[in-house]
Amino acid sequence: MSTQKSAKLWGGRFKKSLDADAVRLSYSYDVDSRLYRYDIRVNQAQAKALWEVGILTESEFDQLTECLEDILVRFENSDSDLFAGDEDIHSCIERLVTQKVGDLGKKLHTGKSRNDQVICDVRLYLKEEIGHISTLLRALMHAIWTLASQNQTLIMPGLTHFQTAQPVLVAHHLLAYFEQFSRDHDRFSDVLKRVDICPLGSGALAGNNYGLDRNVVAKLLGFSTVSQNSMDAVGDRDFLLEFLSHVSITMMHLSRFAEEMVIWSSPLIGFIEIGDEFTTGSSIMPQKKNPDIAELIRGKSGRVLGNLVSLHHILKALPMTYNRDLQEDKEGLFDSIDTVSISLKCFAKMLGSITFNSQALTAAVKKGYTLATELADYLAKKGVPFRQAHEITGQVVLYAVDQKKQLEELTLGELTVFSDAIDQDINQIFNYEKSLERKDVLGGTAPNQVRYQLQKLKEQYKW
Ligand code: ARG
Repeated sequence: MSTQKSAKLWGGRFKKSLDADAVRLSYSYDVDSRLYRYDIRVNQAQAKALWEVGILTESEFDQLTECLEDILVRFENSDSDLFAGDEDIHSCIERLVTQKVGDLGKKLHTGKSRNDQVICDVRLYLKEEIGHISTLLRALMHAIWTLASQNQTLIMPGLTHFQTAQPVLVAHHLLAYFEQFSRDHDRFSDVLKRVDICPLGSGALAGNNYGLDRNVVAKLLGFSTVSQNSMDAVGDRDFLLEFLSHVSITMMHLSRFAEEMVIWSSPLIGFIEIGDEFTTGSSIMPQKKNPDIAELIRGKSGRVLGNLVSLHHILKALPMTYNRDLQEDKEGLFDSIDTVSISLKCFAKMLGSITFNSQALTAAVKKGYTLATELADYLAKKGVPFRQAHEITGQVVLYAVDQKKQLEELTLGELTVFSDAIDQDINQIFNYEKSLERKDVLGGTAPNQVRYQLQKLKEQYKW
């Protein structure tokens, strides 16, 4: 037998070794070795269960536990001798155990299959990663809250259709993103319920013959509950689809926010300056300060969506139960986790580097007749039916455009031509601060509403 063949977990039935290119296509150690910590924990829990049913003696269990602990330390120290052309992380660890404790190592795979083992590893890994992503999301939410708190009085034009619409507080605009990321945070907490389920004991697909206590194993591994159908347990990946979907939504939110950072920092708009630490120069144009980090985060959202779509395609025609196609779940999963993690981290830091240009904001809010709706509402409050008020205001705007004037520059004489409902108090209407104050409704952009939201969040998150 060749060394390579003897290192396999399944050599007995075969006369020839796997073709070299087939090895390259199918071996997954490079990808799944990141699961080593979880695979070792799963092996330790399995050993405990095997001891409890008498397959291992207490001293064998102790030896295996200790040996697995040593292997863990070697992995943590990135020992370069660990890998020896193994098919995957499970084969690698079993080989390392066997090299150390001899034939006892060959008992380790009793009552489990790589089919229940791999998904048990992934579930453990994902539980931890969801914790990390949630922490990063909370840090981003804090960065948004801080930026909003620091810029409570700044007014900007709110847009619809990317056309100037109505004045809003910059803080209100920022808190809109807060809401989106807070829902993302909730979604990750929710999916945790469907990740936190122990599949070990399901075997290849049918269960196991050893009467292993699945609840004890689940408890040892820190799972809240155990899976209820062995075939589903090894063949299901919908919890990953759900998770990847949540990651895609988070990346989409980051991408929208990044898009605004790109637009706002353009010299054409000039609302913000992003710190040097999060911008780059051009190799040819010395004046350039490019928002590359925001652009890259926007770009990366595409790849993360691709990973979700890819898993949908992997799953859609698979018969029950485990099929090797399922091995393809991990590359996209790991990539999405890495991408969303670094993107959340950078975005939060980038927000901390931003300064607002109040002059540019004030100039922009005065463009595009953002107080027109105020006039329509003023007329409506004076008894003019809103549809008619809208028509009159449209005519006023047309006149102002013609005269190259802002609405607030029109004299009372000019305005009363359009409606005799207009009088002296109109100057309260064409006032940006007053227009904000009038939006005094829960969730509105009135300064005291925004202050209330900031205070509420401060208390809720104990900032
Ligand atoms: N590397 C495999 C995966 O990730 C492990 C399970 C292999 N199972 C098997 N029956 N070949 O899916």
